[in-house]
Amino acid sequence: MDHFLYKDGQLHAEDVPMSDIATSVGTPFYCYSAATLTRHFTLFKEALEPMPSLVCYAVKANSNVAVLKLLGDLGAGMDVVSIGEYLRAKAAGVPGERIVFSGVGKTPAEMRMALDGGIRQFNVESEPELEALSIVAASMGAEAPITLRVNPDVDAGTHEKISTGRKEDKFGVPISRAREIYARAAKLPGIKVVGIDMHIGSQLTDLAPFEAAYTKMAELTRALRADGHQITRLDLGGGLGIPYTRSNEAPPLPTDYGAMVKRVLGDLDCEIEIEPGRLIAGNAGMLVTQVIYRKQAEEREFLIVDAAMNDLIRPAMYGAHHDILPVTEAEPGVPLSPVDLVGPICESGDTFAKQRAMPPVKAGELVAFRSAGAYGAVMASEYNSRLLVPEVLVQGDHFAVIRQRPTYDEMIARDSIPAWL
Ligand code: LLP
Repeated sequence: MDHFLYKDGQLHAEDVPMSDIATSVGTPFYCYSAATLTRHFTLFKEALEPMPSLVCYAVKANSNVAVLKLLGDLGAGMDVVSIGEYLRAKAAGVPGERIVFSGVGKTPAEMRMALDGGIRQFNVESEPELEALSIVAASMGAEAPITLRVNPDVDAGTHEKISTGRKEDKFGVPISRAREIYARAAKLPGIKVVGIDMHIGSQLTDLAPFEAAYTKMAELTRALRADGHQITRLDLGGGLGIPYTRSNEAPPLPTDYGAMVKRVLGDLDCEIEIEPGRLIAGNAGMLVTQVIYRKQAEEREFLIVDAAMNDLIRPAMYGAHHDILPVTEAEPGVPLSPVDLVGPICESGDTFAKQRAMPPVKAGELVAFRSAGAYGAVMASEYNSRLLVPEVLVQGDHFAVIRQRPTYDEMIARDSIPAWL
């Protein structure tokens, strides 16, 4: 459930009309709902009770420092994949003891900074990374708490580009070699084994692949304990999917996920960590854009909007569906007609939706893309020299700009012309 609803025929974020925000900040803009973020985080936290647990929000989904502060203040930990994300979490006031560091390519410089600033654990993804971390930690006289990200060879049944737990994927160490690599880790200076990590993919709409992976994790926990390792934490990764359409999708809820986790891992006496990103932020955000033109071509009609693939790349990159709502609610019974919703970028891939049934929205009117709070603003670029879209956070009846739209001067000033030109 989210807090984006029509009231008196106008789309609101909580108690604020979207059109008020548009008047104040211009279009396009990303709009997040604090109540929805809070609700999604709390659902996950409660779903794991009474197991000891830490919900480590996957910062990559939406890394705005205000979003991180809101979640951090609720007690969230953070899952980061770069020192940039780590520093954002720190800037939001999240203590190092609640930050886990994932990713296949952590550099020694990043490891050093994280050890210096405090870190809950590194989720190590390869033997060379393990050796590198040992060298860095030992040289600092520090001890790096680690889990190994184990690749369980389970097909998550999701989009090819966001599936991560099959043996052909680049992530983690093969489960078949896990015991051997843990034995090596236990001998290395500066390394302290604390648990096991997995993450099998994103936007999973079925619990079966999770259950298959966590069953392997339970077996591995027992085997590693028998080998003499202290396994006290199990990091289950993220990946639980969200509904992208209002009509026919009903992915499992955090409560269903929590019940499965308790059934499969509940008797191991471990602290559970999970790394949800999309489920917390996805349906807590919308991208609001203005229609520039309605264009009738020979065979179809186009709605050209002022947002483009550089602002929200998911449709172009994954063929992803986002529901699109008119900000002024259509009159009941008004006929819908098929349109292609496109942005102004000079590529045919800059298409948000093809032959989407829409009410007769006119030039100058606003439309909103649902489910854009995760992997939206964070994946934006300035392609075609378009300014990055501002971000707004709503809470109750007020809102604040949490990232300004830059000016053209600021964008251009980042380049420099060498003296010899
Ligand atoms: N933990 C790890 C190690 C991850 O790699 C990811 C996502 C997550 C947690 C969070 O997964 P979530 O709960 O959000 O599904 N840009 C793509 C999604 C990429 C996900 C990458 N990893 C999209 O727009 O669909």
